[in-house]
Amino acid sequence: MSELTRVLIVEDDPGLQKQLKWALKGDFDLLFASSREEALDCFERNHPAVVVHDLGLPPDERGVSEGFASIQAMLQQAPQTRIIIMTGKGDRDDAIELIGLGAHDFLTKPVDIDQLKLIVERAGFVSALQRAGAERLGDAEEEPGLFLLPGIIGRSEAMQQVATMVRKVAPTRASTFIQGPSGSGKELVARAIHALSDRAEGPFIAINCAAIPESLLESELFGHEKGAFTGADKQAIGRIEQADGGTLFLDEIGDMAYELQAKILRFLQERIIHRVGGKKDIPVDVRVVSATHQDLEQLIAEGRFREDLFYRINEFELRLPPLSERENDVELIARHLLRQFAESHQKPPMRFTEDALLAIRRNEWQGNIRQLSNVINKAVILSSSDWVSAEDLGLVTQNEAFDDITLNNIPTLKQAKEETELRLIMKAMRANDNNVKEVASQLGVSRQRIYELLRKHDITL
Ligand SMILES: Nc1ncnc2c1ncn2[C@@H]1O[C@H](COP(=O)(O)OP(=O)(O)OP(=O)(O)O)[C@@H](O)[C@H]1O
Ligand SMILES: [Mg+2]
Repeated sequence: MSELTRVLIVEDDPGLQKQLKWALKGDFDLLFASSREEALDCFERNHPAVVVHDLGLPPDERGVSEGFASIQAMLQQAPQTRIIIMTGKGDRDDAIELIGLGAHDFLTKPVDIDQLKLIVERAGFVSALQRAGAERLGDAEEEPGLFLLPGIIGRSEAMQQVATMVRKVAPTRASTFIQGPSGSGKELVARAIHALSDRAEGPFIAINCAAIPESLLESELFGHEKGAFTGADKQAIGRIEQADGGTLFLDEIGDMAYELQAKILRFLQERIIHRVGGKKDIPVDVRVVSATHQDLEQLIAEGRFREDLFYRINEFELRLPPLSERENDVELIARHLLRQFAESHQKPPMRFTEDALLAIRRNEWQGNIRQLSNVINKAVILSSSDWVSAEDLGLVTQNEAFDDITLNNIPTLKQAKEETELRLIMKAMRANDNNVKEVASQLGVSRQRIYELLRKHDITL
């Protein structure tokens, strides 16, 4: 008789927990946990092959920080575990990011029990096959020493320096400022700082200052009392308070409105907050990590960012180099991503062709690792063989712009750049049916930037 697949279900809602128990018992060896602590404890002791994981767990039921941290820790400990994420309405992007880190699949709530059962069955099957394969080959595990810091791959000199600084600053409470281009791993570094600090057991609360409308950001950060403004029908605890005892990650802080910057400054000076519409002093113990892809010094010069706040958030500064300055890291990361995406899309192990590796090394990767990851993920999904070529990666069209250049009509560098930009955008727009979100993701820049480029080149949708 074959053993039942061991499945750990991490869900804090007792109703849903019960429902899952009824649906899955008998077919699987079930374990349950309802918080990150319980989950990790159970995970370490029982080594489940499959984990079904909710993202919103106490004390951050509304957010994803607890689920995210738990899944990340599991993937670090045992990357071969098949983790299936159950997501709420707003956290699909987080689930996709976790898939990038090695999670297996995700399901949107309300969960369709039959579908879940099928996915768990299949995940168990893949996991058993993988174990059998690993025993046979003896090398299915990734090479050791690939990760410099939790979740962060690299061997380059530049990244080793970053890792040394991260290890030094993590255990302190210094407000840490991460400057780095889009997709360079700012959020990963913020999470690593938290994971390596003595607050690792506390919450990691991230807030993207650019993603929340200005009018809502203050109450999102500081919370509000009932009746503080129209629509405030009950009291709400803000992100700063939620991060008590842990780390608050202020992402894209350069986008924060000037007036709100003064309030954040006061909080950082006094370590006390007031909820919107509230008078009570609420002391909070949080470590603040902030990040931006913008040049804050420039913003200060333009009068858009407060210099006094800059010095407060920047007690310690980390600069993340672009991928192009990380020697051969791009290849290491690309191979890792290929392995991960092939696994998570349940494809056989895949390999890059020589020309693909060459193209990966040569490409500029302006959108850094996020762009690399998007390009590889797409190639894995589209590829019908075990090989991924430069063409599959969409990296062969780069020289097209130069095909018609003769000795008599060499353009200026600026002209050539503009031409390439225009061609790439037109191509990407066509390839993605004018879907700006997809185009931005493929080219590794923000949607905002795509709109700017469309305007610049007079392209109408
Ligand atoms: N060194 C690395 N090794 C492996 N994966 C990485 C590395 N750096 C970044 N990633 C992955 O690349 C993606 C982008 O990283 P992250 O979100 O941390 O970057 P960011 O600088 O915050 O990006 P953005 O400016 O787009 O917000 C994530 O999926 C992350 O897991
Ligand atoms: Mg980010």
